[in-house]
Amino acid sequence: MIRPPDYVLSIQPYVPGKPIEELERELGITNSVKLASNENPVGPSPAALEALRESLAGINRYPDGAGYYLKEGLSSMLSVAEHELILGNGSNELLDIAAKTFMKDGDEAVMATPSFVVYAMAVQSVGGRAVQVPLKDYTHDLSAMADAITPRTKMVFIANPNNPTGTISKKDDFDRFMEQVNEDILVVVDEAYYEYVSDPAYADSMKYLRSGKNILILRTFSKIYGLAGLRIGYGIGKKEILTDMNRLREPFNTNSAAQKAAGAALKDAGHVARSMKVNGEGREYLYLGLSEMGVTYVPTEANFIYIPIAESGKVYEKLLKLGVIIRPAGPDAIRVTIGLPEENRRFIEALKEVLRVG
Ligand SMILES: Cc1ncc(COP(=O)(O)O)c(C=O)c1O
Repeated sequence: MIRPPDYVLSIQPYVPGKPIEELERELGITNSVKLASNENPVGPSPAALEALRESLAGINRYPDGAGYYLKEGLSSMLSVAEHELILGNGSNELLDIAAKTFMKDGDEAVMATPSFVVYAMAVQSVGGRAVQVPLKDYTHDLSAMADAITPRTKMVFIANPNNPTGTISKKDDFDRFMEQVNEDILVVVDEAYYEYVSDPAYADSMKYLRSGKNILILRTFSKIYGLAGLRIGYGIGKKEILTDMNRLREPFNTNSAAQKAAGAALKDAGHVARSMKVNGEGREYLYLGLSEMGVTYVPTEANFIYIPIAESGKVYEKLLKLGVIIRPAGPDAIRVTIGLPEENRRFIEALKEVLRVG
């Protein structure tokens, strides 16, 4: 029988947040809410929807594999050259391409735990070893991560903000870390939730692009831009890094509809501002509701909240039965996406019932 290599067998398949339809079918309920996948509850930008509709008549043609117009929009917004941009079928695909490009069997990549699980999967898929460094105070311990670098290390992954904790790496820590990383290592800074961050101490990854460091900054249209279903994200890095990644990028990895919608979303500042406002108000509502219940949480810079809680698996199951889908984050925490006011209210009421308080 044909068998994959051991390193493929060692990968745990990604478990996505439960889809609403699946839960409702299983439990025979309706009107459930999904706060499990850090999506934008406001929805996509109307301008993106319009561009999407317009793009449909042309889907008999292959897309522009280089994504010229979207890159043009990104280039002027970010003040980077178009050759410093790469598009991906979600930023997730770029994690995979980066690992495939720069790692081989036996190499190591340093990352935090808990952090975005796809880093380890991408590394293991090429036979690499994921070296996982525990968070300190729910935040990347960048000095321990620097200490974990060995001559075998090829990549470091930093989620900033981190998923699932919503914490950020700050300038001082990040600058100190970057000083310790050699030229033969690629630092991937995953900024999927970049647009939500308001703390002025947030690390400035772009300055390392300008100084010519081996850095790959990843961002996405799946979060604040509300286009998770279209699968489109982008990477910012110096030309040499992207030239190598382009060797392994599928020629038409991002589709034409996604490129058009993303280009329109990028220009819809009103939608981004509305999304920020809904997120900020939801965050404050949830903080208050949790505090009133005596439940502690980790303050977030993203669109989700990490809540340390005993027996998280049971809490998750009980919330499901009440029609509220969140995400267990290990055995002793849950992660809840900040939703619309009514969704947040449903979550707080359901959690009260599960914990039997109030
Ligand atoms: C930290 C982080 N990086 C990357 C992604 C993947 O995003 P995309 O939809 O762009 O593939 C996610 C999605 O949840 C995430 O939380």
